[in-house]
Amino acid sequence: MNNLVETARLMLADPKGLLAMDESPGTCNKRFAQAGIEQTEESRRRYRELILTTPGLADYVSGVILHDETIRQSRADGTPFVKLISDAGIIAGVKVDTGAKDLAGHTGEKITEGLDGLRERLRDYFAMGARFAKWRAVIALGDSLPTNACIDANAHALARYAALCQDAGLVAIVEPEVLMEGDHSLARCQRATEQVLRAVFEQLYVQNVALDAIILKPNMVLPGLSCHVQPSADKVADATIQAFRRVVPAATAGIAFLSGGQSGELASVRLNAMNAKFKAPSAAAPWPLTFSFSRALQHPALGIWAGKDANTEAAQRALLHRAKCNSAARRGQYAP
Ligand code: 13P
Repeated sequence: MNNLVETARLMLADPKGLLAMDESPGTCNKRFAQAGIEQTEESRRRYRELILTTPGLADYVSGVILHDETIRQSRADGTPFVKLISDAGIIAGVKVDTGAKDLAGHTGEKITEGLDGLRERLRDYFAMGARFAKWRAVIALGDSLPTNACIDANAHALARYAALCQDAGLVAIVEPEVLMEGDHSLARCQRATEQVLRAVFEQLYVQNVALDAIILKPNMVLPGLSCHVQPSADKVADATIQAFRRVVPAATAGIAFLSGGQSGELASVRLNAMNAKFKAPSAAAPWPLTFSFSRALQHPALGIWAGKDANTEAAQRALLHRAKCNSAARRGQYAP
């Protein structure tokens, strides 16, 4: 367990965060299609090579989350990506769930699958060089959603996954995401986020998961995308911190947010607002608060690259810029 606590500590090292690049081939292809990029395995490999060879990335990024396809791929010169990552001083991790599927009997809700055979897959990923894993559950809000059935099933699966990770020597990133789709208010998102996190930590406790070796990857508390009141970063920070203070045990190693579809700048501004509040010694947080963004880190870079080698360096500069912004936000020192 000591190794796991140490790995979690390195993943949360100041002033760094995590770079999520674990989009499934389907999701990656959708984003490629929007950017006019060819949707092939080789395009995905080239794009991931661009990310992983960005000069200076390790100054701001402690760990990268890979997809099963990516962890098996190599740089054009034959160097395995996992070696490239560890040579740069970055920790490799892998998404191990097999996706969110319709929850039977509950229209509009999802259950994340992937527990069958997980012990063996975790063993294989560890042998490949992964030192942490990720599992994402999604919770939709609506008139009568989420149901307890959806929350409980997903919390149970997250805890079973986390316990298996700890057996396999991997830090577990526990990601319960309350989605932004809908017209719900900030207060409604806060209530749902607290309800979901309470259920998740209850199940982590039941399954004997050591909290000082997990990283929570939650949503920020935000109103729905179509809610007509869009609050300031300050209000978002207050609601998010209040939710966590009420529900997240102090023993948890750290919190690394997903971006959930926010723009890169908004995600940085909001992360910054939270960390700025924690700067006063009287308000110090029990856990480090950092980033584990995919879209909010990668979005401008992907568009700039557009599949063309000639654009690689400009795309890398854009990626590094957002990583640097989020590193500053992690310290409460970001100015857009
Ligand atoms: P976003 O930051 O784009 O929400 O992605 C984070 C992630 O890892 C989703 O599972």
